[in-house]
Amino acid sequence: MPQPRILVFAGSIRTGALSAKLAALAAKELSLLDAEVSLISLADYPMPVYDGDLEAREGPPETARKLRARLAAHRGVFIATPEYNASIPPLLKNTIDWVSRVRDPVDPFKEGVFAIGATSNGRLGGYRGLIALRQVLELGLGALVLPEQVAIQEASQAFDEAGSLRDERSAKLLRAALTRLIVMAEADL
Ligand SMILES: Cc1cc2nc3c(=O)[nH]c(=O)nc-3n(C[C@H](O)[C@H](O)[C@H](O)COP(=O)(O)O)c2cc1C
Repeated sequence: MPQPRILVFAGSIRTGALSAKLAALAAKELSLLDAEVSLISLADYPMPVYDGDLEAREGPPETARKLRARLAAHRGVFIATPEYNASIPPLLKNTIDWVSRVRDPVDPFKEGVFAIGATSNGRLGGYRGLIALRQVLELGLGALVLPEQVAIQEASQAFDEAGSLRDERSAKLLRAALTRLIVMAEADL
């Protein structure tokens, strides 16, 4: 059976982003679970703030088309998000909004399977950000988002020097989500 292709990215492009640490760890674990993994940064897909007039004039930016094609080339997606004011950051929402506006017969949101995780220095681990991201993907875009998810609390202390999670329970939850992501992505091959 061919390896399932999984795309991984974080909802932050900040240097040293905690969500990027979670994305990097997820990419590493997925590779160990024998998936073909692409770890990307949204920094490579810069987009203006969504504006209907801009869209009417020029259509979605080329970066949105490229990212949509990248999504469509993968069966599974793992998104690691920070939490901003109990929701997802504007970078992630804006990116998803633009990608959703690309008119293309292949809908990567409906075709793919998504797993999500969050990082936060708070006690909730970005849980409210996860709920918001799930709402956007599931209710907004009709995506299949796995029930298994991970919320990493006190995230600036959560990763060791090797980038692994110090807390065994969080590590297990991440592994469970990634294992299911691979199973679901393979089911689709
Ligand atoms: C505008 C703004 C709102 C934030 N709101 C929350 C919040 O609701 N909950 C939370 O846990 N952290 C919140 N934070 C803190 C971020 O989670 C923290 O800066 C985090 O490190 C950003 O993610 P990153 O490390 O992946 O870049 C907020 C930060 C900003 C800039």
